[in-house]
Order: sequence, then C-alpha cells, then structure tokens
Amino acid sequence: MSSVLCAVRFGLVHGSGPSQRKLIISPSTIDFHMIDIIGLVEPRQVILVSVSAVMEVMGKKARKDNLITVDWHMPCSYKPFLYAISIGKLEFSHQMILKSGVFCVNFMAASSEAEIIKCGTVSGQVKDKFKETGLAKGYCEKIDCARVADPIGFLECELIDSIDSGDHTIFVGKVVNYHLAKKEKRLFHLDGRHFTTTEEY
Ligand SMILES: Cc1cc2nc3c(=O)[nH]c(=O)nc-3n(C[C@H](O)[C@H](O)[C@H](O)COP(=O)(O)O)c2cc1C
Repeated sequence: MSSVLCAVRFGLVHGSGPSQRKLIISPSTIDFHMIDIIGLVEPRQVILVSVSAVMEVMGKKARKDNLITVDWHMPCSYKPFLYAISIGKLEFSHQMILKSGVFCVNFMAASSEAEIIKCGTVSGQVKDKFKETGLAKGYCEKIDCARVADPIGFLECELIDSIDSGDHTIFVGKVVNYHLAKKEKRLFHLDGRHFTTTEEY
C-alpha cells in the first residue's frame, strides 16, 4: 500500500520501502479515487526531513545520515511548539526515527527541486542521499541528527508521540531548536511529477 501511495504521490514509477521496488502503476492496480483525493489535498509544501541513527544494513551496523522528501507535515501546537510529519511505515526513515527518537525538518528553496526529487525517489537504505544529491551536510545543535547545511530554515525535533495512521505513522516532534536563515521561494507539490512555487517567498 505504501509504495502505491508513494507512486500516486510522485507519478507512475517510484520505488519505495526497504527493497526499493520499482513499481509500474497500471489502471488495473490503482484506485483512481486515491488519485482524486491526492489531487484534492495538494498542493503542499515539500520539505526534507533529515534523520540519523545507527542502523544494520546487510548485517553491518553503521551510523546513517538520511534525507526523506515529505509533503505531509504540519505545525500542531504552539505551547509546546510541536511539529508533525507523516511517514510511510515501509520507509527506511520510519525505522530510523523510531530508533533515534529525533528528526530535523529542513525547509527547502524551490531551486533545490532536483535534490528534493532525488531524496523522494531513492532509499537511504541503499544510497547516501547527501552524497547522491551533493547537498552539504550540517549538524543539529540540540539533537544528535544531521541536517541540510544551508536550508531556508530548520526545526530540530525530539519525538514525543507516534500516532498510528493507516499505512503511515504520524511522528510528533517537540521543537527544541530552530532557525530561519533566509526568505526564498518554496517548492509545492501539485501532483505526480508536477511542482509549483510561490510568487515571492
Ligand atoms: C514530492 C514527494 C513527496 C513525498 N511525501 C512523502 C510523505 O509525506 N511521507 C512519506 O512517508 N513519503 C513521502 N514521499 C516518499 C519518500 O520521500 C520516498 O519513498 C523516499 O525514497 C523514502 O526514503 P527512505 O527509504 O530513505 O526513507 C514523497 C516523495 C515525493 C517525491
């Protein structure tokens, strides 16, 4: 289900989950009501969530710094300031967040569209997405987590709740540090492979 949802999110061919399956969606395998619903709830601002954890991949334990493209996210409380992200249960980042208990929300400029798409179409289980995209790596101050070095801004989050949400989990993070570095146009996901941006910022 998750890979179907991701395919709906990003077009017709998109790998998802640990095995990074390539999925070709044909009319017979897709619920077209789902496409209507996705079209209804988007456009949504696309962000990169960074995650760091010691993970076992192919029998070897190593610290991984990963990036996942996310358009299902929102602020959800003022006091304390909480931020929620919805992550597919099959995503590598899902395992990583459960392991580390932290994540960082990186607000990205529209000019990073290619990097954002890359982070949403390959799995951190098989690729180092910082290297793949060339995005410079920075480190959070208040949590043990990598982040994008030069985003528009970021939120450092400590996981305080995980809410089961069908094929996704809503991770609720308490924001323990944040920074707004600049004002630039953001990227919004329309549907499939279509994106748009804001007129100003
Ligand atoms: C534009 C776009 C938006 C996405 N939004 C989400 C999202 O909100 N939640 C999610 O779990 N996956 C989302 N995805 C899919 C993941 O980014 C994608 O499956 C990624 O490869 C998972 O990486 P990982 O295996 O390293 O965790 C999105 C992908 C794209 C291209």
